[in-house]
Amino acid sequence: MIPEVRYLCPSDADEYKRIRIEAARDPWFGTSVSLESKTPTSLLARALVASAEGFIAGAFDGDELVGIVGFGLGPSGRSGTLFGLYVSASHRRRGGGLALVRFLLEAAGASGIQAIELAVKRDNEGAISLYERLGFRVSSGGAGHDDAVGMTLRLPTSP
Ligand SMILES: CC(C)(COP(=O)(O)OP(=O)(O)OC[C@H]1O[C@@H](n2cnc3c(N)ncnc32)[C@H](O)[C@@H]1OP(=O)(O)O)[C@@H](O)C(=O)NCCC(=O)NCCS
Repeated sequence: MIPEVRYLCPSDADEYKRIRIEAARDPWFGTSVSLESKTPTSLLARALVASAEGFIAGAFDGDELVGIVGFGLGPSGRSGTLFGLYVSASHRRRGGGLALVRFLLEAAGASGIQAIELAVKRDNEGAISLYERLGFRVSSGGAGHDDAVGMTLRLPTSP
């Protein structure tokens, strides 16, 4: 069954902390298990207040948070960044990653932005093919990471 995706909110902070600790085992996320374990839940709860500037969405299997993705609006207000896409290893290849990114595209696209950008590790073929399925195209180097590429999705603009 494809996990159900919704905006995370402050009451999800305990589950959010748990999945961040899990994701932190992958160095790509630029954090560490020990750092994430020490982060106060109250701090994470504050990051889970969705706003015009950004949001975190989560994929759920029942009450269990099994995937996350983040969106942040850029300073110009005309583009935004997708970050932190992660699905628990036990729940992969069930459509959760696609569902998370589709949710993000719908939510972020409604704000009238023209493009969504992201960086992905060059050798992460699974993620690259997921993003390509949704219309992202490799656009640049990886924003300061030698081993990464940038991808961009151009959104249709209103006439
Ligand atoms: C990348 C990731 C989010 C994909 O999540 P997922 O829930 O397994 O993705 P989906 O089930 O929605 O996959 C959708 C499609 O993407 C592609 N895809 C996903 N993972 C793939 C893999 N490991 N190898 C090849 N293609 C893959 C396939 O086309 C897949 O469709 P299919 O299963 O019908 O073949 C997950 O593997 C993950 O969290 N990886 C570790 C963190 C990571 O790399 N994040 C991306 C950072 S930029």
